[in-house]
Amino acid sequence: MQGQLMFAILFVTLCVETLAEDEFLYKQFTDPERDAFHYGKFQEDFAWGVATASYQIEGAWNEDGKGPSVWDTFAHTPGKTHLNQTADVTCDSYHKIAEDVKNLKELGVNHYRFSLSWSRIMPKGTPDEINPAGVQYYHDLIDALLAANIQPMVTLYHWDMPQVLMDIGGWENELMHALFVAYADFCFNEYGGKVTKWITFNEPTVFTVFGYEIGYHAPGKTHLGWGAYRAGHIVLKAHASAYHLYDKKYRASQNGVVGITLHARWYEPKTDTDADRAAAQRALTGELGWFAHPVFLTGDYPEVAKELIAAKSRAVGLTSSRFPEFTEEEKQMLKGSADFFGLNHYSTSYIENKVDASLIPNIMSDLDYKASEDDSWDRTGSWWLRPVPWGLRRTLKWIKKTYGDIPVYITENGMSENDGPVRLEDTDRVTYYRAYINEILKAQQIDGVNLKGYIAWTLMDNFEWAEGYNERFGLFHVDFNDPDRPRTARASAKAFAQIIKDNGFIKAKEKSEL
Ligand code: GAL
Repeated sequence: MQGQLMFAILFVTLCVETLAEDEFLYKQFTDPERDAFHYGKFQEDFAWGVATASYQIEGAWNEDGKGPSVWDTFAHTPGKTHLNQTADVTCDSYHKIAEDVKNLKELGVNHYRFSLSWSRIMPKGTPDEINPAGVQYYHDLIDALLAANIQPMVTLYHWDMPQVLMDIGGWENELMHALFVAYADFCFNEYGGKVTKWITFNEPTVFTVFGYEIGYHAPGKTHLGWGAYRAGHIVLKAHASAYHLYDKKYRASQNGVVGITLHARWYEPKTDTDADRAAAQRALTGELGWFAHPVFLTGDYPEVAKELIAAKSRAVGLTSSRFPEFTEEEKQMLKGSADFFGLNHYSTSYIENKVDASLIPNIMSDLDYKASEDDSWDRTGSWWLRPVPWGLRRTLKWIKKTYGDIPVYITENGMSENDGPVRLEDTDRVTYYRAYINEILKAQQIDGVNLKGYIAWTLMDNFEWAEGYNERFGLFHVDFNDPDRPRTARASAKAFAQIIKDNGFIKAKEKSEL
């Protein structure tokens, strides 16, 4: 009996000791298997960075020969954004290269992910007319980054299509395929001597669904039932052709890599029933696989999505599916058309099975599921964003299991707060970053995911699309009422810098011995 007591005391002492070091970052997530803190370091050449996008930070919307983009048009249309706010000036990064690079250095990042504004480089959307001042702006930015030992990771398309191209139908016009390739060709040729990491498209699911199917984002089309599938089909072909162009014309001399960035939430079955488990799998396969299967697996859309969309199209009397089909040649082009998988991940949902027989079948109803959140999950400044760190690790495992050992970069991850009094002590964001980065460390070290880097969203508060300035995601606070747009580091900037410095997470005890 006494022996048992001694053992119990010893056991409790050990546990207390373990818990002191192995903290749980979120009070509601305390499963020792799933949520315990993991100590360790990433590999030496791990990519650490932050991301931004041209329309969200540059401002100077009509300066120095820049043409308007669909986002200029959309935000200038009353009723489209929070308080009719625009990004005409936003962070004014067009005039603040030195300051942005100084802040990047303060974070200690070795990568900066930003996007090119197509209409700043080509005001008319084609290489027939180039805007030298726009071209020079990105040279200046890239040169300043390289001088600071920061590698540029460049997104060609982060949603701000030249308005002139929207006037001919945007991503619903087949011509966009060739036009995008011509734009990519120009950029590879112009900047490829200095840029070795390229992303063709940012989150095609988001800009095609929001932009062409429900109209919540530019260009504001509400082509319910077919807009996103049609636009996405052309985007995929444009991606594959740009990839092959790089491969044939530039890779040998420039030695870079080209990938695509896809958005994925983790979908956890709401209950342990077969129906909910199948629904969660279907939702992941149908949504992430819509763009990932063609590029990383088969060259074609996932079978489950093809079957469901065809059946739902037939059910309402259509003679062909609303989901377009690739030719054999296109499938060959698509299959394997990326050197890395860029993953944007922010949150998780529960998924339950729900058969949906809408009379206007559409992208939201086609996959027969319903998403919800857990009341116990914390809230942020965005209704769709609840911190559930373990969801990121599960997403990464799912990607590895489904697409194999492809190199993965997290190209966005972060959290928002609402506009309000200046708040520099953002302890919730510190917790978010520590917890999510800890999960990717587990994915890499325990699950063997081929993880190459982590890029946080975002360097500084900026124009959050339809939400305007009401959702702040920045590691740096920006004062949008001051004409100078001063940036001030938040606590999260310092915490992120520390993680980068440690290249992971070192136990306090080991740190003090360093
Ligand atoms: C992503 C998008 C970013 C940023 C972020 C936060 O979907 O790529 O531009 O807005 O979400 O909502």
